[in-house]
Amino acid sequence: MAQTYDTILQGGTLVNQDGIGPCDIGIIGQTIAFIGDLSRASAGRVIDCTGLHVLPGVIDTQVHFREPGATHKEDLESGSRAAVMGGVTAVFEMPNTNPLTTSAETLADKCQRASNRMHCDFAFWVGGTHENVRDIRELERLPGAAGIKVFMGSSTGSLLVADDAGVAAILSQTRRRAAFHSEDEFILRERESFKVAGDASSHPVWRDEAAALSSTRRLVKIARQTGARIHILHISTAAEIDFLKAHKDIASLEVTPHHLTMAADDYARLGTRLQMNPPVREARHRDQLWYGVAQGIADILGSDHAPHTLEEKAKPYPQSPSGMTGVQTLVPIMLDHVYHGRLSLQRFVDMSSAGPARLFGIARKGRVAVGYDADFTIVDLKRRQTITDEWIASRSQWTPYHGRAVMGWPCGTIVRGGQVMWEGQLLAPSTGQPVLFGEALPQR
Ligand code: DOR
Repeated sequence: MAQTYDTILQGGTLVNQDGIGPCDIGIIGQTIAFIGDLSRASAGRVIDCTGLHVLPGVIDTQVHFREPGATHKEDLESGSRAAVMGGVTAVFEMPNTNPLTTSAETLADKCQRASNRMHCDFAFWVGGTHENVRDIRELERLPGAAGIKVFMGSSTGSLLVADDAGVAAILSQTRRRAAFHSEDEFILRERESFKVAGDASSHPVWRDEAAALSSTRRLVKIARQTGARIHILHISTAAEIDFLKAHKDIASLEVTPHHLTMAADDYARLGTRLQMNPPVREARHRDQLWYGVAQGIADILGSDHAPHTLEEKAKPYPQSPSGMTGVQTLVPIMLDHVYHGRLSLQRFVDMSSAGPARLFGIARKGRVAVGYDADFTIVDLKRRQTITDEWIASRSQWTPYHGRAVMGWPCGTIVRGGQVMWEGQLLAPSTGQPVLFGEALPQR
């Protein structure tokens, strides 16, 4: 190979659609230019990946970065810094900010705030509401839009479309896959009395399995009636895994590291820090989510990074807000599950890179292929390290995994050819750009 590259990733073990094996990667500009033996090629920069595994860049399709409106918890800079510290190369950010991301103007404002300020690439979910239903077809295809997101049960913020008619009106407009927070608002309201003051372990008793299943059943029925494709975020119940396997033609599923890792007995230790919507539940649900991973029913991983400050989380339940950080810990927590044999490294890549690209039609990301963006998550599977609050770059500066030792660690993050993070150091200026989608490219 006489060719010269800008960057060569040398000596690593590549994990991609071909399998797992030793492989160098040549990068020109922002793009992958060659995959193979580059031991005799020259480059402006050679990154030594000896002993490391090179994965396609991890794409986290559910994060809350709180800007505009609640930047004391997080902003687009700090949230994306947390992302790249944890090996994540692109994020899809949620619309429950203030103002809500429900219009072309608020979406353009987020894109402007994010460009060359975020450390990773980005797209923004646009909130579907009763009010903007007539604009949805246009909104979901705007530059920087990941698609439409609907809250069927209320959570942080004021976005809510609880009724079947409202959901049907939105799904009759969407052409892209729309994402849903699926908990039945009417059941949640009926069950308010199950909240026990001062006891966060009552959170899954209030927001119970039946509330999640009822909403998901209603949603699938409406999706069939309207011919829409749906993505159900943070699946948390055994019953939904069992139900949704019969609806894979139209419904995709996200599972989160916290629902796969923790269970109801952790409320005693973590209290309101574990409080999340939908809730972390008894261990039998966690077991069934793992069955969903093993059987391919669950499509992708998303962190649902939802930071609140420790002062806010210290309020007594139920005044305490729901949500925890997660974008930075997704990779190490899941690599630890790989180490313990709960999923393979290739299945992890399927759920965190190839899966998001497949479901949402992301252009040029999600696999290692010539002509694709040079996005990589470089990991050391043999590194044992302890996750601590001090390591967390989120402005909220805490993690439910504080003190947890894991095997497997993200040591490098490459975004479109830029070495953004290496060994815990932020190296490059922020150059985040909107993710491109095949489905949203301008029509001819
Ligand atoms: O626990 C949650 N927190 N679930 C959500 O759906 C929203 C999130 C937040 O924004 O705080």
